Amino acid sequence: MRVLILGGDGYLGWPTAMAFAAKGHDVMVLDSYLRRTIAMETNSEALTPNPNLGARASVFEQLTGKKIEVVIGDCADYRTMTTVFSQFKPEAVIHYAEQPSAPYSMMNFDTAHVTLNNNLNATFNTIFAVMEHTPECHIIKLGTMGEYGTPNIDIEEGWLEIEHKGRKDKFLYPRQAGSLYHTTKVLDTDMLWFYVRAYGIRVTDLMQGPVYGLSTTEADMDERLIPNFHYDDIFGTVMNRFLTQAVAGIPLTVYGKGGQTRGYLNITDTLKCVDLAMNNPAESGQLRILNQFTEVFSVNELAEKVKRVGDHMGLNVQVKSIDNPRKEREEHRYVAHSTGLMELGLKPHLMTDEVVAGMLNKIMKYKDRIDPAKVMPRVLWP
Ligand SMILES: NC(=O)c1ccc[n+]([C@@H]2O[C@H](COP(=O)([O-])OP(=O)(O)OC[C@H]3O[C@@H](n4cnc5c(N)ncnc54)[C@H](O)[C@@H]3O)[C@@H](O)[C@H]2O)c1
Repeated sequence: MRVLILGGDGYLGWPTAMAFAAKGHDVMVLDSYLRRTIAMETNSEALTPNPNLGARASVFEQLTGKKIEVVIGDCADYRTMTTVFSQFKPEAVIHYAEQPSAPYSMMNFDTAHVTLNNNLNATFNTIFAVMEHTPECHIIKLGTMGEYGTPNIDIEEGWLEIEHKGRKDKFLYPRQAGSLYHTTKVLDTDMLWFYVRAYGIRVTDLMQGPVYGLSTTEADMDERLIPNFHYDDIFGTVMNRFLTQAVAGIPLTVYGKGGQTRGYLNITDTLKCVDLAMNNPAESGQLRILNQFTEVFSVNELAEKVKRVGDHMGLNVQVKSIDNPRKEREEHRYVAHSTGLMELGLKPHLMTDEVVAGMLNKIMKYKDRIDPAKVMPRVLWP
């Protein structure tokens, strides 16, 4: 298939591009380097030395003989999208191209504005480019489990049947996000649902939980192919932060009471989920929503896991609760359902002690690059 990956320089985009190219798909990646720019501006560069996209694509081609076409450009610019869609004619587009940091979106007016404009325009332009140039193209959009928030009822897979005054109808599950970033994802979903209803496009919206890990089949071939792995307070997801803190000998920073509970998944499973969604496309006129996580943990449970495995490896891991920089529930009910991806064939890679030890061992190679100044939260919710 011809697969276009928006945000193909990212933590998830680059390994997806390699995995699809390795399978024999024609892959094009488009990225504006927004994450690299924000990382430089906020002193949040990745732990791993990541060559630019062109350089990574040529390393990958030397090793595998497979080509990944690279375009540096902005999805929020419709002319760029028109050129890419009209020339490449993708059959599937994987849309990762958003500003994904909740803290960054909460820093100040300018960062909120960048997040809002970038994310909504990237999604809007993707929808229009598909409608104008490739109406059969399947849009696979990365949403987040954070769209649902932490409601006091079960989190269903995208939709909720509601009975009101004796009548029933099905609606998008109510969404209550905890940051502006997460709110842009809610708005994306609403916008996609409108264009699905109005124009019959085909869309899969993957409500993904926080991802961990830095190892995939292709990334393991060469150090220069490793996904950009962040441990900072801006881009680092909690498990990746804890693993790096354990290696650096910095106490694991549990925000508040640590009862915040979410659904997590291994980066290998992200690639598999996107692959399953692509091989089993949504119908025309369907917004298919799949909850994408494999295991549920509280922050305290993650910290305990990293401590247990790290101590076993001689790391002497400390855990420290710090004031929560975010406004969020620290103790709450969390019952979230996810059956769609399992039904499509997902076989989860769970967070076993061996997996945790493997990640710690990989991170140890980069110990000298860990900058403690990037660890403590620098952005407070108002
Ligand atoms: N990593 C996670 O744990 C996680 C969890 C849930 C959802 N997601 C979602 O998955 C997607 C990918 O996340 P990630 O962790 O790989 O983030 P990332 O920041 O590493 O990757 C996103 C990429 O998109 C690019 N980009 C952003 N705006 C762009 C634009 N307008 N034009 C072109 N390129 C643009 C960035 O430069 C970056 O390379 C995001 O949409 C994110 O919201 C990620």
